[in-house]
Amino acid sequence: MFKILEKDAAAHNVWRYVIAAPDVAKKAQPGQFVVLRLHERGERIPISISDWDREAGTITLIVQAVGHTTRQLAEMNAGDQILDLLGPLGKPAVIEPVGTVACIAGGVGTAIIYPEVRRHWEVGNRVLTLIGARSREHLFYQEELAAFSDRVLVATDDGSYGSQGLVTDLLHQLIADGTQLHQVAAVGPIPMMKAVSEITKEHGIKTIVSLNPVMVDGTGMCGACRVRVGDEIKFCCTDGPEFDAHQVDFASLLRRSQIYARSEVDSNSAEMVEAGCDGQCHK
Ligand SMILES: Cc1cc2nc3c(=O)[nH]c(=O)nc-3n(C[C@H](O)[C@H](O)[C@H](O)COP(=O)(O)OP(=O)(O)OC[C@H]3O[C@@H](n4cnc5c(N)ncnc54)[C@H](O)[C@@H]3O)c2cc1C
Ligand code: FES
Repeated sequence: MFKILEKDAAAHNVWRYVIAAPDVAKKAQPGQFVVLRLHERGERIPISISDWDREAGTITLIVQAVGHTTRQLAEMNAGDQILDLLGPLGKPAVIEPVGTVACIAGGVGTAIIYPEVRRHWEVGNRVLTLIGARSREHLFYQEELAAFSDRVLVATDDGSYGSQGLVTDLLHQLIADGTQLHQVAAVGPIPMMKAVSEITKEHGIKTIVSLNPVMVDGTGMCGACRVRVGDEIKFCCTDGPEFDAHQVDFASLLRRSQIYARSEVDSNSAEMVEAGCDGQCHK
């Protein structure tokens, strides 16, 4: 059992949990995730390790309530116990000194990119962090990201904070201003990562995306998370979740995510409407 030590609201419909998980905290690296199961009859869901404290033996998860399990988790509080929590899973992000890096996040991708921003900063890269959200109330982690970024730029769909528009508009602007980017990291809804990838491909900028397909076992056994990368089929849970964006087949990834969205929409429609989620993203 894994005890929830703290729970608070990070943003609209997004919750931050500090969980006692000493073995996970000991080994966690940026880019990795856990698979958790709330109770005996619960399904397993993957959630990125957004932060950790090796001494305290805790990890931090940021979770948007989009469906059955994440809504059940949203009802849990400090003092409650999670039945299983397996991790850290996935390959750690490869982060090296390269120069100037743009770390781009959409929606709950902000939680996933945070440890990567911090590691880029630690290895001496110049870090430009670009955040996109539906509106001001969906934003979180700005101060935390600012602590490890040379600049944080924000775009909201409705213009309620930062500039109005998409996070890709910020990327276009940076490039138009003559900023030389040596690498880009992007995490968020599939269409957003695809758009970032198209822009950076045109400019020849190496780009890493962290993919979040539906997963079942999280250990490479079921094939649910398969994704085409270049000429190969990869399993996101064991080969990823990070891949070279310019090699990812976003069209098939999007198609597969829509198949799952359709099969789940009946049981989740009310929750998704409330969360403002279209089944392809965590916004
Ligand atoms: C490696 C990885 C890391 C992740 N990290 C985080 C994180 O840090 N915080 C967070 O809030 N979420 C994260 N997710 C997404 C999270 O796993 C899903 O939101 C969760 O599994 C949904 O479960 P549910 O039972 O609540 O929803 P369900 O009832 O299963 O589904 C509700 C709706 O959400 C859609 N959905 C389900 N899984 C996904 C998914 N993986 N991506 C997009 N849409 C999905 C379904 O198609 C459906 O339309 C991550 C996913 C992966 C693969
Ligand atoms: S989740 Fe089963 S193979 Fe990746």
